[in-house]
Amino acid sequence: MNDTLKLLESIEKSSGSDLKKVKNLKEFEKLRTQYLGRKSKLTKILRSIQNLPQKDRPSVGKKSNEVRKALEASFLKTQGELEQIQSLNEASDIDVTIPALKKHIGHIHPNTQMIWRIQDIFQLMGFEVFEPYDIDDDYHTFTSLNLPEGHPARDIWDTFWTEEGFIPITHTSSMQNRVMKMRKPPIRAVVIGHTFRNERTDPRHEHTLFQCEGIYVDKGITLSDMIGTLKIFFSKVFEKDVKVKLDPDYFPFVEPGNGMALSCTLCDQKGCRVCKYTGWLEILGCGMIHPFVLREGGIDPDVYSGFAWGFGVDRLVMLREKIEDIRHFHSGDLRFIRQF
Ligand code: PHE
Repeated sequence: MNDTLKLLESIEKSSGSDLKKVKNLKEFEKLRTQYLGRKSKLTKILRSIQNLPQKDRPSVGKKSNEVRKALEASFLKTQGELEQIQSLNEASDIDVTIPALKKHIGHIHPNTQMIWRIQDIFQLMGFEVFEPYDIDDDYHTFTSLNLPEGHPARDIWDTFWTEEGFIPITHTSSMQNRVMKMRKPPIRAVVIGHTFRNERTDPRHEHTLFQCEGIYVDKGITLSDMIGTLKIFFSKVFEKDVKVKLDPDYFPFVEPGNGMALSCTLCDQKGCRVCKYTGWLEILGCGMIHPFVLREGGIDPDVYSGFAWGFGVDRLVMLREKIEDIRHFHSGDLRFIRQF
C-alpha cells in the first residue's frame, strides 16, 4: 500500500514539472492523456481500489482522489494559458512585443520647455514655485512695490488697465508682497507667468510675454548671494560657464538696483550682431529688496535683507535656441513649433 501512495505522490510531482515544459496545445493534449487518460497510471490505480484489501481502501482512495483533483486543476490552468497565447497569435499579425512606432503627436512650445527647465533648476536650489494672477490690483502691481499712485517711475511700464481699474500684470513683481506675507524667512521663491505690456510689436517686443521673478529673503543676504545664484542659474540654462556683470539700474523696489548682463552666449564675447559687438547681453533687472517693500510684506528690514530679480523667459529662449524674432512665439505657425 505504501508503494501505491508513493507512486501517487510521484505522479503529482512529475506532472507539475512536465506541464511547465509544454509549449503548445498539441503537446498539452499528449500530456493530458499520459496523466489523466484511460491508460494512465492514475486511472489504473483508481480502478484497482476495489480490489484492494478492505483496510487499505480508504487511504489509497482518498489520496488518489486528491491527486486526481490537483492534476485536473493544474491541467485546466495550463490549458487556459496556452489557449490565450494561441488566440493572440491567431487573432492578427500584431506582435505585441515590437516597440511602439514614434508617432507625430505634437510639440511642447519652447517657452513651456524653458519654464520647466527654469523650475527644475531653481527647485534644485531650494526655491518654491508660484504662479501670479494674470490680472491684479494696483496695490500688488505698484503701490506695495514702492510705486505709489502718481509716481513717475510707473511710466517705466506700458501698462494696460481694465475698465474696473485692474491691471493685466506688467511684471511678476506683483507677487512679491503676497509671497512675503505667505511665508516666513528664509523665503526662496520664483514666480513664473504671463505679463502684458502696451507695446508696439517688433522683432524684439511683444505685448504678451513670460517673466520669471525671484526673491530670496533671510538674515545676512547680500548682493554676492544674488550674483552667485544667478550665475549658477544661467550656466545651467546654457549648459556652459557664463560670466555675469552688474550695471547700475533703477527700479523703485530695489536699492541698489541693477541690470545684469551675461557674456554673449552666441559669440562667446568675440562680438556679434546680437550683443551689438559688446560681448554682453543685458538679461534682467535685479537688486536688493527695498526696505519699504520688505516692511510692506511684513518683514523687518532691520533684521532681514533679500534680493530680487525679474527676467523675460521668451528672451532666454531666443538666446538659447537662436530665434531671431519674438513674434514667432505667438504666431501659431506650425513650421516654427515643429522644430522643438
Ligand atoms: N519687475 C521688473 C521689470 O519688469 C524687473 C525686476 C524685478 C527688477 C525684480 C528688479 C527686481 O521689469
